[in-house]
This record gives sequence, C-alpha cells and structure tokens, in this order.
Amino acid sequence: MKKILEVRNLSKTHGHGCPKCVSSTGPDFDTNVCPHCGSIVAAHDVSFDLHEGEILGIMGESGSGKSTVVKTLFFDDKPSSGKASFHQQTQTHDLFSLNPAEQRWLRNHCFGMVYQNPNLGLNFNVSAGGNIAERLLMNDLSHYGEIRQRARELLARTEVLSNRMDESPKQFSGGMQQRVQIAKALATRPPLLFLDEVTTGLDLSVQARILDLILEIQQELKTAMIVVTHDLGVIRLLAGRTIVMKYGRVIEAGLTDQVLEDPQHAYTQRLVASAL
Ligand SMILES: Nc1ncnc2c1ncn2[C@@H]1O[C@H](COP(=O)(O)OP(=O)(O)OP(=O)(O)O)[C@@H](O)[C@H]1O
Ligand SMILES: [Mg+2]
Ligand SMILES: [Zn+2]
Repeated sequence: MKKILEVRNLSKTHGHGCPKCVSSTGPDFDTNVCPHCGSIVAAHDVSFDLHEGEILGIMGESGSGKSTVVKTLFFDDKPSSGKASFHQQTQTHDLFSLNPAEQRWLRNHCFGMVYQNPNLGLNFNVSAGGNIAERLLMNDLSHYGEIRQRARELLARTEVLSNRMDESPKQFSGGMQQRVQIAKALATRPPLLFLDEVTTGLDLSVQARILDLILEIQQELKTAMIVVTHDLGVIRLLAGRTIVMKYGRVIEAGLTDQVLEDPQHAYTQRLVASAL
C-alpha cells in the first residue's frame, strides 16, 4: 500500500517555552507542564506513517496529546516544529508550510474531520442536508437538484432518515449528530479522515453501530483514517496499527494486536490489564 501521510518529529508547546521544557516533562516526570517556565508540552517528537485505506489508532489518557496531533494535521492548530507530508496521487504537500488558501483547499477536498463535539463540526444554523451541501458547494458541485440528491444519499448511507434532512441537527440525538458529521466529512470522498473521540459519551448500542459504519466506509471507500480515542475497545475494533501517547510522547507503537497482546511499556500494560 502507498503511503498517504508521513509525520515526523511533530511537536507542540503551549506557552513561551524554555530550554528545559523537553528534558523536564514526559512520562518519566509524570507531567507535561514544564516546572521551569510553566509551558505545556502537548506533543513532542511524534512520528508515524499512514498508508492508503489504513486505520491508525491514537490512544492515551486525557491530556496526553492525542487531539493535538490531529488538530495540527487538520490545521486547527499550529505545530511548534516538525514535518508532515501528505501524498496525493503524484503530488506531495508539505502540510506545515502551506499558506491558508492551500490549507483550506486540502481541508475541503482531501481531508474530513469528525469532532468529539458536534458543535465544532456542524453548523446548527442550517439543516442537516445544508451542512452537507455546504461541503459539496466547495467542491464545484453547484446544481441544486444534484446537491440535494447527493446529500440525501450520504445521509441514507449513514442511516439518518432522509425525511429529517431539512431539520437542524441541533434537534438530533448525539448519535445522529455524529452520523451527520460523518456524512458531511465523506461528502467529498476524502482519502483521509480524522475521527476524534467519535463515539465518546454515546450509548453503547449507538457506539457499536457507529463503529460498524466506520468500518463499512473504510472497506467501501478505502478511506485512510486516524482514530483518536481513550477507549481500548474502539482501538481493538478499528485500528490496524496503534500508537499510545502519554504526556505528549509516543510511548508505544505497532500493530494493534501486538500492542494489546504484548505491550512493552508499563503504562500500556496497565491500560490493557485494566480493560480485561
Ligand atoms: N490552547 C491550549 N492552551 C494551553 N494548553 C493546551 C491548549 N490546548 C491543549 N492544551 C494542553 O495540551 C495537552 C494535550 O491536550 P490534548 O487536547 O491534545 O489532549 P487529549 O489527549 O486529546 O485529551 P482528551 O482525551 O481529554 O481529549 C493538555 O495538557 C492540554 O491541557
Ligand atoms: Mg482530545
Ligand atoms: Zn520550560
């Protein structure tokens, strides 16, 4: 399989930083807050590859830096240093050196994002169908009937009743809102999808159906995905490979089966044991 994304030495510090930030934070120090200057080392030296159609899991406790990684790749946040290369057919985009217009183009045409908080991913001032139409319009589809038909198909695909496509997603349940977000993210059939805690806080039965949907989409559309979660069950079900983060560092990486069956780091061992 072809590589679609290469992330190298991605780091993000919140605050001014000092020469001691990196050497005095991390798992060995049980903190991501620099004791010398108070800056937060949200991520440090994160590297990984993602191949076409592959699902990579990013696991770790709250505050470990999972969302930071995804946010920088989706241009919601600026990294402090590092490099990320996105390969699209014959082109390679150096993500962290693009100008805002180029970033917008990639977001609209090549990436999709499903946020934990539907407020961030959906516009509650327009209908569910309208949310999808907005994204189709950015992609040169402009015929009203065509857009409406495509929005209806996407909502049907994600099992949102099409007779509700004219309602605001504000009135939908949490599970339905996530489905609309997924439909919206898929509107352009992006080769790369980011999912940040997509099922967190939902009922178990709703969670299970959304996870099934994600797997079906991956198989159908061969979408590469980065799935951020603190839920080991989600990782086990979805991710072929997994990285585990703690205090901004990657402490474990490998095939998910290996990481879960033979974890090397004491922290991962405890995580796996506690989920048995
Ligand atoms: N804008 C910000 N300003 C200061 N610190 C921030 C900011 N955004 C994130 N952080 C800090 O960076 C660290 C990593 O945050 P991040 O959101 O990546 O964690 P996470 O692993 O996604 O956690 P969760 O599971 O709770 O979503 C945390 O300590 C967080 O408080
Ligand atoms: Mg997060
Ligand atoms: Zn510091």
